[in-house]
Amino acid sequence: MTSTEPASLYLHPDRNFAMELVRATEAAAIRAVPWIGRGDKLGADGAAVDAMRAFLGTVSFDGLVVIGEGEKDAAPMLFNGERVGNGRGPACDIAVDPIDGTSLTAAGRQNAISVIAVSDRGTMLDASSVFYMDKIVTGPEGHGIIDIRRPIADNIHALAKAKNMDVGDMRIAVLDRPRHEQLIAEIRASGAGTRLMSDGDVAGGINAARYDSRIDMCVGIGGSPEGITTACAIKAIGGFMQTRMAPKDDAERARGEAAGLDCDRVYEADDLVSGGNTFFVATGVTDGGLLAGPRKIGRSHIRTESIILRSKSGTIRRITADHLVSKWLE
Ligand code: FBP
Repeated sequence: MTSTEPASLYLHPDRNFAMELVRATEAAAIRAVPWIGRGDKLGADGAAVDAMRAFLGTVSFDGLVVIGEGEKDAAPMLFNGERVGNGRGPACDIAVDPIDGTSLTAAGRQNAISVIAVSDRGTMLDASSVFYMDKIVTGPEGHGIIDIRRPIADNIHALAKAKNMDVGDMRIAVLDRPRHEQLIAEIRASGAGTRLMSDGDVAGGINAARYDSRIDMCVGIGGSPEGITTACAIKAIGGFMQTRMAPKDDAERARGEAAGLDCDRVYEADDLVSGGNTFFVATGVTDGGLLAGPRKIGRSHIRTESIILRSKSGTIRRITADHLVSKWLE
Protein backbone atom coordinates (compact mmCIF):
# COMPACT_ATOMS: atom_id res chain seq x y z
CA MET A 1 0.00 0.00 0.00
CA THR A 2 1.36 3.45 -0.83
CA SER A 3 0.84 6.40 1.49
CA THR A 4 -1.70 7.94 -0.91
CA GLU A 5 -3.97 4.87 -1.14
CA PRO A 6 -6.87 4.61 1.33
CA ALA A 7 -6.68 1.66 3.73
CA SER A 8 -10.28 0.64 2.90
CA LEU A 9 -9.11 -0.36 -0.57
CA TYR A 10 -7.20 -3.16 1.08
CA LEU A 11 -10.07 -4.55 3.10
CA HIS A 12 -12.77 -5.06 0.49
CA PRO A 13 -12.65 -5.21 -3.28
CA ASP A 14 -14.32 -2.20 -4.87
CA ARG A 15 -16.21 -1.54 -8.07
CA ASN A 16 -13.15 -1.39 -10.30
CA PHE A 17 -12.22 -4.88 -9.25
CA ALA A 18 -14.78 -6.56 -11.49
CA MET A 19 -13.44 -4.57 -14.44
CA GLU A 20 -10.04 -6.08 -13.75
CA LEU A 21 -11.39 -9.60 -13.35
CA VAL A 22 -13.23 -9.53 -16.65
CA ARG A 23 -9.89 -9.39 -18.43
CA ALA A 24 -9.20 -12.88 -17.09
CA THR A 25 -12.48 -14.37 -18.36
CA GLU A 26 -12.00 -12.59 -21.70
CA ALA A 27 -8.53 -14.11 -21.96
CA ALA A 28 -9.81 -17.59 -21.10
CA ALA A 29 -12.58 -17.31 -23.71
CA ILE A 30 -10.25 -16.07 -26.45
CA ARG A 31 -7.68 -18.78 -25.75
CA ALA A 32 -10.39 -21.44 -25.87
CA VAL A 33 -11.52 -20.42 -29.37
CA PRO A 34 -9.07 -22.60 -31.34
CA TRP A 35 -10.37 -25.59 -29.35
CA ILE A 36 -14.06 -25.09 -30.12
CA GLY A 37 -15.42 -28.13 -31.93
CA ARG A 38 -12.11 -30.04 -31.84
CA GLY A 39 -13.34 -32.81 -29.58
CA ASP A 40 -10.65 -32.14 -26.98
CA LYS A 41 -12.12 -31.14 -23.58
CA LEU A 42 -8.81 -31.15 -21.75
CA GLY A 43 -7.11 -29.08 -24.45
CA ALA A 44 -9.85 -26.45 -24.28
CA ASP A 45 -9.87 -26.39 -20.48
CA GLY A 46 -6.07 -26.25 -20.30
CA ALA A 47 -5.88 -23.25 -22.64
CA ALA A 48 -8.58 -21.42 -20.66
CA VAL A 49 -7.01 -22.26 -17.26
CA ASP A 50 -3.56 -21.04 -18.32
CA ALA A 51 -4.94 -17.78 -19.70
CA MET A 52 -7.09 -17.17 -16.63
CA ARG A 53 -4.25 -17.89 -14.22
CA ALA A 54 -1.86 -15.58 -16.09
CA PHE A 55 -4.32 -12.68 -16.11
CA LEU A 56 -5.36 -13.19 -12.49
CA GLY A 57 -1.70 -12.84 -11.56
CA THR A 58 -1.76 -9.23 -12.75
CA VAL A 59 -4.79 -8.22 -10.64
CA SER A 60 -4.19 -6.48 -7.31
CA PHE A 61 -5.75 -8.80 -4.77
CA ASP A 62 -4.90 -11.66 -2.46
CA GLY A 63 -7.18 -14.38 -3.82
CA LEU A 64 -7.68 -17.80 -2.30
CA VAL A 65 -9.28 -20.34 -4.64
CA VAL A 66 -12.09 -21.83 -2.55
CA ILE A 67 -13.87 -23.29 -5.54
CA GLY A 68 -11.57 -24.64 -8.20
CA GLU A 69 -12.93 -26.87 -10.90
CA GLY A 70 -12.08 -30.00 -12.78
CA GLU A 71 -11.44 -32.62 -10.11
CA LYS A 72 -14.14 -34.92 -11.39
CA ASP A 73 -12.39 -35.69 -14.66
CA ALA A 74 -8.81 -34.79 -13.80
CA ALA A 75 -9.09 -31.67 -15.92
CA PRO A 76 -6.41 -29.01 -15.75
CA MET A 77 -7.41 -26.83 -12.85
CA LEU A 78 -6.96 -23.81 -10.75
CA PHE A 79 -6.93 -25.96 -7.64
CA ASN A 80 -8.60 -25.41 -4.29
CA GLY A 81 -6.25 -23.58 -1.95
CA GLU A 82 -4.23 -22.02 -4.79
CA ARG A 83 -3.35 -18.36 -4.20
CA VAL A 84 -4.08 -16.06 -7.12
CA GLY A 85 -3.63 -12.37 -7.76
CA ASN A 86 -0.48 -10.36 -7.15
CA GLY A 87 -0.87 -10.75 -3.37
CA ARG A 88 -1.47 -7.04 -2.76
CA GLY A 89 -4.89 -5.61 -2.06
CA PRO A 90 -8.08 -7.05 -0.61
CA ALA A 91 -8.16 -10.62 0.72
CA CYS A 92 -10.85 -12.50 -1.19
CA ASP A 93 -12.34 -15.92 -1.72
CA ILE A 94 -12.56 -16.81 -5.38
CA ALA A 95 -14.49 -19.39 -7.39
CA VAL A 96 -13.21 -20.05 -10.87
CA ASP A 97 -14.62 -21.97 -13.77
CA PRO A 98 -12.37 -21.18 -16.75
CA ILE A 99 -14.94 -22.98 -18.92
CA ASP A 100 -18.35 -24.02 -17.64
CA GLY A 101 -19.22 -26.27 -20.52
CA THR A 102 -15.96 -27.95 -21.56
CA SER A 103 -17.95 -30.67 -23.34
CA LEU A 104 -20.03 -28.00 -25.09
CA THR A 105 -16.82 -26.29 -26.21
CA ALA A 106 -15.21 -29.52 -27.42
CA ALA A 107 -18.36 -30.44 -29.33
CA GLY A 108 -18.89 -26.92 -30.73
CA ARG A 109 -22.23 -26.58 -28.94
CA GLN A 110 -23.80 -23.42 -27.54
CA ASN A 111 -23.80 -21.97 -24.01
CA ALA A 112 -20.23 -22.41 -22.75
CA ILE A 113 -19.02 -19.51 -20.57
CA SER A 114 -15.90 -18.57 -18.64
CA VAL A 115 -16.63 -17.54 -15.07
CA ILE A 116 -15.05 -15.96 -12.00
CA ALA A 117 -16.90 -15.16 -8.77
CA VAL A 118 -15.36 -13.35 -5.82
CA SER A 119 -16.41 -12.45 -2.30
CA ASP A 120 -14.70 -11.19 0.85
CA ARG A 121 -12.29 -13.65 2.50
CA GLY A 122 -13.99 -16.32 4.58
CA THR A 123 -17.45 -15.90 3.06
CA MET A 124 -17.56 -18.74 0.49
CA LEU A 125 -18.68 -22.19 1.60
CA ASP A 126 -16.19 -24.89 0.67
CA ALA A 127 -18.53 -27.54 -0.69
CA SER A 128 -15.82 -29.49 -2.51
CA SER A 129 -16.24 -32.65 -0.39
CA VAL A 130 -19.65 -33.34 -1.97
CA PHE A 131 -19.47 -33.18 -5.74
CA TYR A 132 -23.13 -32.64 -6.60
CA MET A 133 -25.85 -30.32 -5.34
CA ASP A 134 -29.58 -30.31 -5.93
CA LYS A 135 -30.54 -26.76 -6.98
CA ILE A 136 -33.56 -24.62 -7.62
CA VAL A 137 -33.12 -21.09 -8.97
CA THR A 138 -35.71 -18.48 -9.84
CA GLY A 139 -36.08 -14.73 -10.01
CA PRO A 140 -36.86 -12.74 -6.84
CA GLU A 141 -40.52 -13.89 -6.97
CA GLY A 142 -39.33 -17.22 -5.56
CA HIS A 143 -38.65 -15.77 -2.09
CA GLY A 144 -41.09 -17.19 0.45
CA ILE A 145 -42.98 -19.38 -2.03
CA ILE A 146 -40.43 -21.91 -3.32
CA ASP A 147 -39.25 -24.80 -1.20
CA ILE A 148 -36.83 -27.34 -2.70
CA ARG A 149 -38.31 -30.03 -0.40
CA ARG A 150 -41.74 -29.78 -2.06
CA PRO A 151 -42.75 -31.58 -5.25
CA ILE A 152 -41.61 -29.70 -8.35
CA ALA A 153 -45.20 -29.28 -9.59
CA ASP A 154 -46.10 -27.35 -6.40
CA ASN A 155 -43.14 -25.02 -6.90
CA ILE A 156 -43.98 -24.46 -10.55
CA HIS A 157 -47.61 -23.62 -9.77
CA ALA A 158 -46.60 -21.30 -6.90
CA LEU A 159 -44.12 -19.45 -9.11
CA ALA A 160 -46.60 -19.15 -11.98
CA LYS A 161 -49.10 -17.58 -9.57
CA ALA A 162 -46.48 -15.17 -8.17
CA LYS A 163 -45.46 -14.16 -11.70
CA ASN A 164 -49.07 -13.96 -12.86
CA MET A 165 -48.30 -16.42 -15.65
CA ASP A 166 -50.12 -19.41 -17.09
CA VAL A 167 -48.34 -22.61 -16.07
CA GLY A 168 -48.35 -23.58 -19.75
CA ASP A 169 -46.07 -20.60 -20.46
CA MET A 170 -43.52 -21.54 -17.80
CA ARG A 171 -40.09 -22.67 -19.04
CA ILE A 172 -38.01 -24.81 -16.74
CA ALA A 173 -34.30 -25.36 -17.44
CA VAL A 174 -32.86 -28.71 -16.40
CA LEU A 175 -29.67 -30.61 -17.26
CA ASP A 176 -30.44 -33.41 -19.69
CA ARG A 177 -29.23 -36.35 -17.61
CA PRO A 178 -30.64 -39.85 -16.94
CA ARG A 179 -30.78 -38.91 -13.21
CA HIS A 180 -33.40 -36.27 -14.13
CA GLU A 181 -35.78 -38.58 -16.00
CA GLN A 182 -38.38 -38.50 -13.22
CA LEU A 183 -37.94 -34.75 -12.62
CA ILE A 184 -38.41 -34.00 -16.32
CA ALA A 185 -41.56 -36.15 -16.41
CA GLU A 186 -42.97 -34.31 -13.36
CA ILE A 187 -42.22 -30.88 -14.86
CA ARG A 188 -44.05 -31.82 -18.05
CA ALA A 189 -46.94 -33.36 -16.11
CA SER A 190 -47.32 -30.05 -14.24
CA GLY A 191 -48.15 -28.37 -17.55
CA ALA A 192 -44.85 -26.45 -17.82
CA GLY A 193 -42.29 -26.93 -20.58
CA THR A 194 -38.69 -28.05 -20.14
CA ARG A 195 -35.65 -26.40 -21.64
CA LEU A 196 -33.10 -29.20 -21.57
CA MET A 197 -29.47 -28.16 -21.23
CA SER A 198 -26.77 -30.55 -22.37
CA ASP A 199 -24.35 -28.80 -19.95
CA GLY A 200 -23.77 -25.49 -18.21
CA ASP A 201 -26.09 -24.95 -15.27
CA VAL A 202 -24.37 -21.71 -14.19
CA ALA A 203 -25.77 -19.95 -17.26
CA GLY A 204 -29.04 -21.86 -16.74
CA GLY A 205 -29.32 -20.53 -13.18
CA ILE A 206 -28.53 -16.96 -14.19
CA ASN A 207 -31.07 -17.13 -17.00
CA ALA A 208 -33.70 -18.30 -14.50
CA ALA A 209 -33.00 -15.34 -12.22
CA ARG A 210 -32.73 -12.65 -14.92
CA TYR A 211 -35.75 -10.38 -15.32
CA ASP A 212 -35.22 -10.28 -19.10
CA SER A 213 -34.89 -13.95 -19.98
CA ARG A 214 -37.41 -16.52 -21.17
CA ILE A 215 -36.44 -19.10 -18.52
CA ASP A 216 -38.48 -19.05 -15.31
CA MET A 217 -36.74 -21.67 -13.19
CA CYS A 218 -33.60 -23.83 -13.28
CA VAL A 219 -33.75 -27.09 -11.32
CA GLY A 220 -31.92 -30.34 -10.77
CA ILE A 221 -28.64 -31.83 -9.68
CA GLY A 222 -25.43 -30.26 -10.96
CA GLY A 223 -21.91 -29.60 -9.73
CA SER A 224 -21.39 -28.12 -6.24
CA PRO A 225 -18.64 -25.77 -7.51
CA GLU A 226 -21.10 -24.43 -10.09
CA GLY A 227 -23.62 -24.01 -7.26
CA ILE A 228 -21.33 -21.68 -5.31
CA THR A 229 -20.48 -19.70 -8.44
CA THR A 230 -24.15 -19.38 -9.31
CA ALA A 231 -24.93 -18.18 -5.76
CA CYS A 232 -22.59 -15.20 -6.23
CA ALA A 233 -24.47 -14.24 -9.38
CA ILE A 234 -27.89 -14.79 -7.81
CA LYS A 235 -26.99 -12.55 -4.86
CA ALA A 236 -25.98 -9.84 -7.31
CA ILE A 237 -29.09 -10.16 -9.47
CA GLY A 238 -31.37 -10.41 -6.44
CA GLY A 239 -32.81 -13.78 -7.47
CA PHE A 240 -33.72 -16.79 -5.35
CA MET A 241 -31.75 -20.00 -4.90
CA GLN A 242 -32.04 -23.07 -2.69
CA THR A 243 -29.77 -26.09 -2.71
CA ARG A 244 -29.18 -29.36 -0.92
CA MET A 245 -26.04 -31.44 -1.03
CA ALA A 246 -26.54 -34.53 -3.16
CA PRO A 247 -23.90 -37.06 -2.05
CA LYS A 248 -23.61 -40.06 -4.39
CA ASP A 249 -23.27 -42.56 -1.56
CA ASP A 250 -22.79 -42.94 2.20
CA ALA A 251 -19.04 -42.53 1.93
CA GLU A 252 -19.39 -39.15 0.21
CA ARG A 253 -22.06 -38.12 2.72
CA ALA A 254 -19.66 -38.99 5.56
CA ARG A 255 -16.86 -37.01 3.89
CA GLY A 256 -19.22 -34.04 3.52
CA GLU A 257 -20.36 -34.20 7.14
CA ALA A 258 -16.73 -34.53 8.31
CA ALA A 259 -15.94 -31.38 6.35
CA GLY A 260 -18.74 -29.53 8.13
CA LEU A 261 -21.50 -29.81 5.52
CA ASP A 262 -25.01 -30.74 6.59
CA CYS A 263 -26.37 -33.01 3.86
CA ASP A 264 -29.96 -32.65 5.12
CA ARG A 265 -29.93 -28.88 5.29
CA VAL A 266 -31.37 -26.48 2.73
CA TYR A 267 -28.69 -23.96 1.78
CA GLU A 268 -29.85 -20.67 0.30
CA ALA A 269 -27.65 -18.30 -1.70
CA ASP A 270 -26.66 -16.42 1.50
CA ASP A 271 -25.59 -19.69 3.13
CA LEU A 272 -23.42 -20.63 0.17
CA VAL A 273 -21.83 -17.18 0.01
CA SER A 274 -22.33 -14.93 3.02
CA GLY A 275 -21.83 -11.19 3.15
CA GLY A 276 -22.97 -8.48 0.83
CA ASN A 277 -19.91 -7.97 -1.34
CA THR A 278 -19.90 -10.48 -4.19
CA PHE A 279 -18.72 -10.07 -7.75
CA PHE A 280 -19.49 -12.26 -10.72
CA VAL A 281 -17.97 -11.96 -14.17
CA ALA A 282 -18.49 -14.18 -17.20
CA THR A 283 -17.45 -14.10 -20.84
CA GLY A 284 -19.08 -16.16 -23.58
CA VAL A 285 -16.93 -19.01 -24.93
CA THR A 286 -19.49 -20.28 -27.43
CA ASP A 287 -22.65 -18.47 -28.48
CA GLY A 288 -25.56 -18.79 -26.07
CA GLY A 289 -28.66 -17.23 -24.60
CA LEU A 290 -26.65 -15.35 -21.97
CA LEU A 291 -23.58 -14.31 -23.94
CA ALA A 292 -22.14 -14.59 -27.43
CA GLY A 293 -18.79 -16.32 -27.91
CA PRO A 294 -15.72 -14.51 -29.28
CA ARG A 295 -15.87 -13.72 -32.97
CA LYS A 296 -13.44 -12.27 -35.47
CA ILE A 297 -14.28 -8.81 -36.79
CA GLY A 298 -12.46 -8.71 -40.11
CA ARG A 299 -8.85 -9.82 -39.65
CA SER A 300 -7.84 -7.25 -37.08
CA HIS A 301 -10.10 -7.73 -34.04
CA ILE A 302 -11.74 -10.37 -31.86
CA ARG A 303 -14.99 -9.29 -30.18
CA THR A 304 -15.89 -10.72 -26.76
CA GLU A 305 -19.11 -10.35 -24.81
CA SER A 306 -19.11 -10.35 -21.02
CA ILE A 307 -21.39 -9.69 -18.11
CA ILE A 308 -20.40 -8.18 -14.76
CA LEU A 309 -22.58 -8.40 -11.68
CA ARG A 310 -21.88 -6.75 -8.34
CA SER A 311 -24.09 -7.35 -5.34
CA LYS A 312 -23.48 -3.95 -3.72
CA SER A 313 -24.94 -2.04 -6.64
CA GLY A 314 -27.14 -4.69 -8.26
CA THR A 315 -26.06 -3.34 -11.64
CA ILE A 316 -25.93 -5.80 -14.52
CA ARG A 317 -23.26 -4.52 -16.84
CA ARG A 318 -22.66 -5.97 -20.27
CA ILE A 319 -19.29 -5.37 -21.86
CA THR A 320 -18.40 -5.79 -25.49
CA ALA A 321 -14.66 -5.60 -26.10
CA ASP A 322 -12.80 -5.59 -29.39
CA HIS A 323 -9.31 -7.02 -28.89
CA LEU A 324 -6.48 -6.56 -31.35
CA VAL A 325 -5.73 -9.92 -32.95
CA SER A 326 -2.05 -8.94 -33.19
CA LYS A 327 -1.81 -8.71 -29.38
CA TRP A 328 -3.08 -12.24 -29.02
CA LEU A 329 -0.66 -13.67 -31.57
CA GLU A 330 2.39 -12.26 -29.79
P1 FBP B 1 -17.70 -28.71 -16.89
O1 FBP B 1 -17.69 -27.89 -18.11
O2 FBP B 1 -16.80 -28.12 -15.88
O3 FBP B 1 -17.46 -30.14 -17.16
O4 FBP B 1 -19.17 -28.59 -16.20
C1 FBP B 1 -20.30 -28.66 -17.01
C2 FBP B 1 -21.52 -29.01 -16.18
O5 FBP B 1 -22.61 -29.19 -17.06
C3 FBP B 1 -21.90 -27.99 -15.12
O6 FBP B 1 -22.52 -26.83 -15.62
C4 FBP B 1 -22.82 -28.82 -14.25
O7 FBP B 1 -22.98 -28.26 -12.95
C5 FBP B 1 -22.08 -30.14 -14.21
O8 FBP B 1 -21.30 -30.19 -15.41
C6 FBP B 1 -22.99 -31.31 -14.17
O9 FBP B 1 -22.21 -32.46 -13.98
P2 FBP B 1 -22.42 -33.80 -14.84
O10 FBP B 1 -21.94 -33.50 -16.24
O11 FBP B 1 -21.57 -34.80 -14.17
O12 FBP B 1 -23.86 -34.11 -14.83
